Amino acid sequence: MKVAIIGTGSIAPVHIRAIKDANEEIVALCDVVPAKAEKLNSVYGLDASIYADYLEMLEKEKLDAVHVCTPHHLHREMIVRALESNINVLAEKPICINESELENIKSATKKSNAQLGVCFQNRYLPANRKLRELLAKEKPLSATTKVVWRRDEAYYKSAPWRGKWETEGGGVMINQAIHTLDLLLWYCGMPEKIKGAIANTNLKEIIEVETTAEFVMAGKYVASFYATTASYKNFPIEIEIRTRTNIYRIIGEDLYVNGNLQELPAAGELYGKPHWGAGHSHLIRDFYSCLREGRTFPIDVYEAEKSLRVIWALYRSNGQEILI
Ligand SMILES: NC(=O)c1ccc[n+]([C@@H]2O[C@H](COP(=O)([O-])OP(=O)(O)OC[C@H]3O[C@@H](n4cnc5c(N)ncnc54)[C@H](O)[C@@H]3O)[C@@H](O)[C@H]2O)c1
Repeated sequence: MKVAIIGTGSIAPVHIRAIKDANEEIVALCDVVPAKAEKLNSVYGLDASIYADYLEMLEKEKLDAVHVCTPHHLHREMIVRALESNINVLAEKPICINESELENIKSATKKSNAQLGVCFQNRYLPANRKLRELLAKEKPLSATTKVVWRRDEAYYKSAPWRGKWETEGGGVMINQAIHTLDLLLWYCGMPEKIKGAIANTNLKEIIEVETTAEFVMAGKYVASFYATTASYKNFPIEIEIRTRTNIYRIIGEDLYVNGNLQELPAAGELYGKPHWGAGHSHLIRDFYSCLREGRTFPIDVYEAEKSLRVIWALYRSNGQEILI
């Protein structure tokens, strides 16, 4: 398939390697700073055409699919423009940063012949897949989740769209912990209500958005969730889920059932940081298999909507109970 990438910053190399693994052809790269696209073209030995304007690229290239790897506030328009041209889209998370953008994307997917897939690549890691399989036969009663990472001043200063409500749409929840929230909802289903708060505990002078979030969700199960990027280093993510008979724990890429470490297939080559670096190649291979075989890719706009609904309710909560 003929593939293009819009946005050739930090995450783009992970997409390039995974697209190559899937044996698809990267025919174009687009970045408002074309030198960044030129660099990846040469580093990865591609023969892609380079564009600064994605609309020109969508018009000139005969694309089967486009990967959206740009700052959050640009996702909606890029997704919608590609879908309007019936070009399949694989979008980085979050697909958008507010509810009206979400409605716009939903309506574009309904009108398009093309598919929209979303990069929640951790769903493809062996421990996470195994836990989902185990929980399909049981009823989760409670869960607790911890994301304790470090994103410092240098991280925010390296890309000015980060750290602002208007361009990032939030902080630790919409950018980093959205993956873990997506997993929790994938395992346990949607909650009915949420109560919690967000704070900027460590970078007040530097960024507007939250660096810490804590909340409790309730419904068919109860869950507490803690996420921060104010830690002094990155720790493995922890998810614990209790059913009537079992205690399941994910720690990083390991799965424990009642304290016993489970044997799992290898996660595959690590393309980026631990806990997210290995998932992209599996997800991207599946995306192209779905397109080739005419199947619906499992992580669509409605799946992406779930974590966003919870995050937006949390942002409104401010210590009050909010219905989701
Ligand atoms: N799935 C994951 O685990 C994961 C990990 C890291 C980043 N991401 C996501 O990937 C996306 C990009 O993040 P990043 O860290 O690579 O950001 P980045 O700032 O490093 O890269 C974004 C690139 O987009 C380019 N760009 C900006 N406006 C553009 C436009 N109008 N047209 C074309 N290019 C444009 C910038 O010049 C830059 O090169 C975000 O949605 C982020 O949340 C996902």
